[in-house]
Amino acid sequence: MMTTIDIWLNEEIGRINPNIYGHFIEHLGGVVYDGIWVGEDSEIPNIKGFRQELIEKLKEINPSVIRWPGGCFAETYNWRDGIGPSEKRPTTVNWWYMNDGKLESNQVGTHEFIDFCNLVNAEPYFAVNATTTTVLEARNWIEYCNMMQGTTTLAQEREKNGSPEPFNVKYWGLGNENWGGGGCMTPEDYCHIYRKYGIISKSVGQDLQFIACGPYEDIPEWTAKFFDKYKEMYTVGRVAPMFGYSLHYYVTNTGRMGTELTYSDAQWYEMMRVGLDMEPFIQSQYEMIRAAMPETSIGLVVDEWGVWHQQNGRHPLPGNYLFEQMSTMREAVLAALSLNIFNNHCDKVVMANVAQLVNCIHSLFLAKGNACVATTSYYVFDMYKIHQNATSLKTEVNCKSITYIFEGKTYDIPSISCSASFRDGILAVTLANLTVDEDQEIMFNLHGGQYTSTGTMVVLSSYNHKNGNSFEEPYKVTPVEQNISPVGVELTVTIPKASVVLLTLD
Ligand code: AHR
Repeated sequence: MMTTIDIWLNEEIGRINPNIYGHFIEHLGGVVYDGIWVGEDSEIPNIKGFRQELIEKLKEINPSVIRWPGGCFAETYNWRDGIGPSEKRPTTVNWWYMNDGKLESNQVGTHEFIDFCNLVNAEPYFAVNATTTTVLEARNWIEYCNMMQGTTTLAQEREKNGSPEPFNVKYWGLGNENWGGGGCMTPEDYCHIYRKYGIISKSVGQDLQFIACGPYEDIPEWTAKFFDKYKEMYTVGRVAPMFGYSLHYYVTNTGRMGTELTYSDAQWYEMMRVGLDMEPFIQSQYEMIRAAMPETSIGLVVDEWGVWHQQNGRHPLPGNYLFEQMSTMREAVLAALSLNIFNNHCDKVVMANVAQLVNCIHSLFLAKGNACVATTSYYVFDMYKIHQNATSLKTEVNCKSITYIFEGKTYDIPSISCSASFRDGILAVTLANLTVDEDQEIMFNLHGGQYTSTGTMVVLSSYNHKNGNSFEEPYKVTPVEQNISPVGVELTVTIPKASVVLLTLD
């Protein structure tokens, strides 16, 4: 069966917030130390202690926003440990992630993270410790970061520490996974704590955007209970306002779906199915919020997402960092279909942060010593950056289904995922071919306009879908570009099995 895709130039879903293409850096495994940070005295080329090669590559993909310092790490973090002269900073235990016995040196703290964001042109998004510290500490951190030069004692301390200008941190996540690692709270407990942040929401006259902790995919009911309570408090006032509501969604393996190089086709498809299931999760979470508060403008912030094999569990293979895994064509296709979901729901999703940037889970980079490798998923972000700030368009895909049997059950999933956007006269269409063994011919029907000239097609694929980039073969899988020639409203292309594709047309 030939796939047909209808695209309506005149049916807009909304503007694609660039923050949908955001990132996440946690003090975990090799993400910060040896990942982004090598230290100013390192022989590895660096800018202010940050890996130069990574900075240059990251800038290329317009990283928009970066979440830090966790994750679970945030829930035991004391921001004061990471300010002041580096030699005077305390060495602490990384309570969440023991990092193979390594201690937390606190060499990367608030000022350094802000430097990193400035170096790559990204907006900072801070995760506040809402479990083991107080609202007062959050207030102090906000004041330290955002008060004008020469005003409060904390602003003067920031100046003394080398940054007279305020950091103007806008996004503040209040807690992390508070139903689990972050305090094992009930939705009602958490709502009660969230409420208290209302007191500081306007305290420094800033445009602060607070993000509340929502559920992981397996506890969707958290939301209805949380919003029941939040609505009640909102009605009586003095509750923290909410810009975004956070969701975490991992395509988790836990061994069932095979490690990166030893899995069957059924295991591949099962991972695709779980990836596709993020769409109903987003839809239903959004509906729950709107059911409780019909007038609200709260958006969804998927501030952790990605493929998490856990093949190494908490005890990594020798020489690997905690949760370090390879990104092959499987991760690239899953990144592409996830980003297609965000684009298609950009009227609901205002931010998303892939977990994590380097050496961890769905990494965009692998870095060790002098080497810094861009993974297949990095190239997906590079291809998809064209969607940032563009208008997402309605599409309809008619493709063959894939039927597979996994653990005795039969499933059907679509074989193609797609999103399209329009900006400055350019139509961008991104596709993922979910089949492991079939190239697909696709015919596009354009509604509401015509193509005017040639376009380009960029393809990320490999003869073997288990291939990815590694320290040994850093450029094994990279995108390839070719010209295409649409005529009037007609365009047909063939895309390889297990591929990610970008079409740009004017
Ligand atoms: O990204 C790794 C961990 O996954 C984070 O610390 C936590 O928030 C989530 O469970």
